[in-house]
Amino acid sequence: MLEKINRIQEEIASLKAASAAEAEELRIKYLSKKGEISQLMGDFRSVAPELKREIGQKLNQLKDFATERINALKEAAANSSAREEAAIDMTRSAAPLEVGSRHPLSIVRGEIIDIFSRLGFSIAEGPEIEDDWHVFSSLNFAADHPARDMQDTFFIQRQPTDVLLRTHTSSVQSRVMEHTQPPIRIICPGRVYRNEAISARAHCFFHQVEALYVDEHVSYADLRQTLLYFAQEMFGPDTKIRLRPSYFPFTEPSAEMDISCNLCGGKGCAFCKGTGWVEILGCGMVDPNVLESCGIDSKKYSGFALGMGIERITNLKYQVKDLRMFSENDVRFLSQFKSAR
Ligand code: DAH
Repeated sequence: MLEKINRIQEEIASLKAASAAEAEELRIKYLSKKGEISQLMGDFRSVAPELKREIGQKLNQLKDFATERINALKEAAANSSAREEAAIDMTRSAAPLEVGSRHPLSIVRGEIIDIFSRLGFSIAEGPEIEDDWHVFSSLNFAADHPARDMQDTFFIQRQPTDVLLRTHTSSVQSRVMEHTQPPIRIICPGRVYRNEAISARAHCFFHQVEALYVDEHVSYADLRQTLLYFAQEMFGPDTKIRLRPSYFPFTEPSAEMDISCNLCGGKGCAFCKGTGWVEILGCGMVDPNVLESCGIDSKKYSGFALGMGIERITNLKYQVKDLRMFSENDVRFLSQFKSAR
């Protein structure tokens, strides 16, 4: 009996298990009801009384030793297989990449460009640092005309000629007309600058999109229909437009366009100050003086122009309350536009 105990003891000391399942097989082999150690326990009954004490102790030690050893094997096998799984888990997805998002102004600029390109307008660009001629004089601003004060200009140089930051994208109109004969159908998206105190409602730079259409027989009806198409594409098919008479030096007649408030549907709310309408752009028929100063025959050709602020349109679409958010690059603000295209 003692011999058997010693043999099993040695066997157990050298046991190995590659997996938890193998360790379990060993437990069954030695420790289950029919296992080798249990059988020894059964045999114990027939041991001579004078040996019972010694053999009993050895048997108990053997059982404890086997239980501990097999449990340790089980644990080690479980740990190593967990480690292996962690190392080669083929189903695990890659660590997520933080993707950026488009700036809301870029999203809206893209939409404006899309809408006008469906009408056959192509993109024209001009410089942000401009001269007086393209920003003012060619656009029918007389030298001492108070309309120049409407736009608080940043001057870079006053002598011998004015060099300035463009205050509107209308300057691109004259840049295009001076080297292109009609038909002209362009839009000019870009950044403009004005010397304004920065607040929630004004900034010293912002963005505009200008549109210009010059050809034979371009009429006010063409302008109105283009505006209606734009408004409904941008703000939804139920959008209504309203044109109010206004003044710009480069258009005659001039108008400002309102759209039915897209927050309350025209019923009147805090956003539209109860009127049901919100102003979104300036427009008009190109003043013949402008055509002539850019070398286009105003007897033969007519045209319309319009200009809008991208920030304004974006505010209407996304209800951004503070203009400064657009240039602060706060990711908490920017990441809200992830799902937008
Ligand atoms: N340039 C004007 C502004 O910055 C906007 C504008 C009004 C553009 C009427 C136009 C226009 O082309 O016809 O306030």
